[in-house]
This record gives sequence, structure tokens and C-alpha cells, in this order.
Amino acid sequence: MAIGTPRIALVTGANSGLGKALAGALARAGDRVLMVARDPSRGAAARAELVDTTGNRTIELLTADLSSQAEVRRLAQQVAERSEHLDLLVNNAGTAFREHALTTDGIERALAVNHLAPFLLTRLLLDRLRAAAAARIVNVGTRIDTAMDFDDLQFERRPYRMMQAYGQSKLGNIHFTRALAPRLAGSGVTVNCVFPGVFRSNLGGTDGAQGLALRLFARLFGWALRSPEQAAERVRYLLDSPTVAGISGEYFGDRRPIAVPAQANDQEASERLWKISCDLTGLPTD
Ligand SMILES: NC(=O)c1ccc[n+]([C@@H]2O[C@H](COP(=O)([O-])OP(=O)(O)OC[C@H]3O[C@@H](n4cnc5c(N)ncnc54)[C@H](OP(=O)(O)O)[C@@H]3O)[C@@H](O)[C@H]2O)c1
Repeated sequence: MAIGTPRIALVTGANSGLGKALAGALARAGDRVLMVARDPSRGAAARAELVDTTGNRTIELLTADLSSQAEVRRLAQQVAERSEHLDLLVNNAGTAFREHALTTDGIERALAVNHLAPFLLTRLLLDRLRAAAAARIVNVGTRIDTAMDFDDLQFERRPYRMMQAYGQSKLGNIHFTRALAPRLAGSGVTVNCVFPGVFRSNLGGTDGAQGLALRLFARLFGWALRSPEQAAERVRYLLDSPTVAGISGEYFGDRRPIAVPAQANDQEASERLWKISCDLTGLPTD
């Protein structure tokens, strides 16, 4: 267990894959983990397993379907009620969808879950993050060389493609990181994005976000893919390492910054997405 006051860590998508491995690693190190899952029974099963394997009974389960902005707001409220400060926020939950469909808020699902949910949750928790000694936010991104079509973010004019929708919504994680970092300058809070590598997981569940080729590869050569625990180490580096204290707005691979798609180097594009995201979530633009 860690010496001193335990850090309070919120991890989304913590019942499966990378999120579960990370929640376990943090709990094992003595952090107080608030794990977020969308399904109460899957969440409870994962919590019970993590309490059992880590011996840390302070792990708490919060449930929220992050495709719903009302649930994201309720989640932020629950976190705020639990603590005056938040040390670590890991926006890990992510998924992809074979078919185009809208959420209850009328937003294309991949954009809603992968980009707008972390955008809204993080901004609603900024007061709590600023109240911590040196909070760190990590957004879990992916590595697909793509660009966001700001004139058709929700595939109203173009044909819908699962990996295109997934890729552009995950590029939103990097744009968000780029736009948030300067706003946090001097606050003691840092934000970075990480590519966790390709690893064995349940990504997208039965909808199959990893794509047919990768899933076939995983079935034949699954042993060769990295584990969620190995992927979680990349996130832990950004949460724990003194080397990255004060570093913000970067996109990391394995312990070092990596190249981003060209559009993510365009601060105007990141600001454009920031404004669109404010419109879609009803948040102020500052
Ligand atoms: N696996 C890879 O090779 C890879 C590569 C690059 C990036 N990533 C990123 O890594 C992150 C973790 O993915 P993973 O591979 O560990 O996949 P995973 O095992 O499927 O975990 C994804 C988590 O997100 C949750 N989630 C999905 N939709 C949600 C919603 N509407 N509300 C709340 N929670 C929701 C899932 O909950 P349920 O269990 O209820 O579905 C699950 O807990 C994702 O952001 C993904 O984009 C993965």
C-alpha cells in the first residue's frame, strides 16, 4: 500500500480490459479507486474480483452509461459528493459500433461515448481536480491516421463506416487533450493522451470494434498480442512517473511522446472541436 494519504482515482470502463487491469494496479498500490462501469452486474463482478485479488476494500463502483449526458452529469455529481478533490482521472471507456445510430441525446454513438463523454465528465470534475495537490488526467486514445470532418461529425452526409467513426472519435481525445492543456496551465493539473498499444480485449463487445482482420489475428495468434496489464503500464507511467510531472498536452506511446495525425497538430482544429463539443454538451466555451 502507498505511504501517506491514498490518491483518489476515477477510472471509466473499469469492468473490462485495460480499465480493469489499471484499476487493479492502482488499488494494489494503495490508491482509492472509483471504478465506473455501465452495467451494474458486470461492474459488481469486476469490483468483487479486484477487491479479492488486490486486498484493497476501498474500491468503489459507480455505474453510468456514458452515452447519456444525463448519466455523465449524474456520475460527476456522485464523484463530487464522495470527495472534495480528485487526484487521477482516466478517461478509458471506449467502443465502436457497426451501425449508425443516435444516443438518447440525438448524437452519433461513437462520438458521444468516445469523445463527448470524456469531454463533459472532465470539465464537470475540473473543480475537484484543481483541488488536488497535482492532479493528472489521462485520456486513452488510439493510433489511426485520420482527420475529423467538422462539417459532418455525425455522418449525416457521408456513408457511415465503423472504423472511420471510431477513429475520428478517438482523434477527438487528442484534440481535447491539446485544447484543455493550455486552459489548465498554472493550475497544477496536467492532461495527456496515451496510445496503449494493441492488446487483447473485449473492445466493442459483440459489435466487434477491433475489426474482423484483427479479431481473426487475435483468435489465431492471441498469445502474441499484449495483455491489458501491459497496456495499463503505459497509463500508469503517465499517472505515477515524476519524469512527466508538469508535462501536459502530449500524446504518449510507451513512455515517450509519439507522432499524432496531422490535424491534431493544428491548434485551430482543436479549438474548433472544443467549440462544437461545448455546443453539443451545453457547456460554456471558456
Ligand atoms: N484493445 C486495443 O487494442 C486498443 C487499442 C487502442 C486503444 N484502445 C482503447 O483502450 C480503451 C479500453 O478499451 P479495451 O480494449 O480495454 O476494451 P474493453 O475491454 O471493451 O473495455 C472498454 C470499456 O468501456 C466500457 N464502455 C463502453 N461503452 C460504454 C458506455 N456507453 N458507457 C460506459 N462504459 C462503456 C465497456 O463497458 P462494457 O463492458 O459494459 O461494454 C468496458 O468497460 C478504449 O478507449 C479503446 O479505444 C484499445
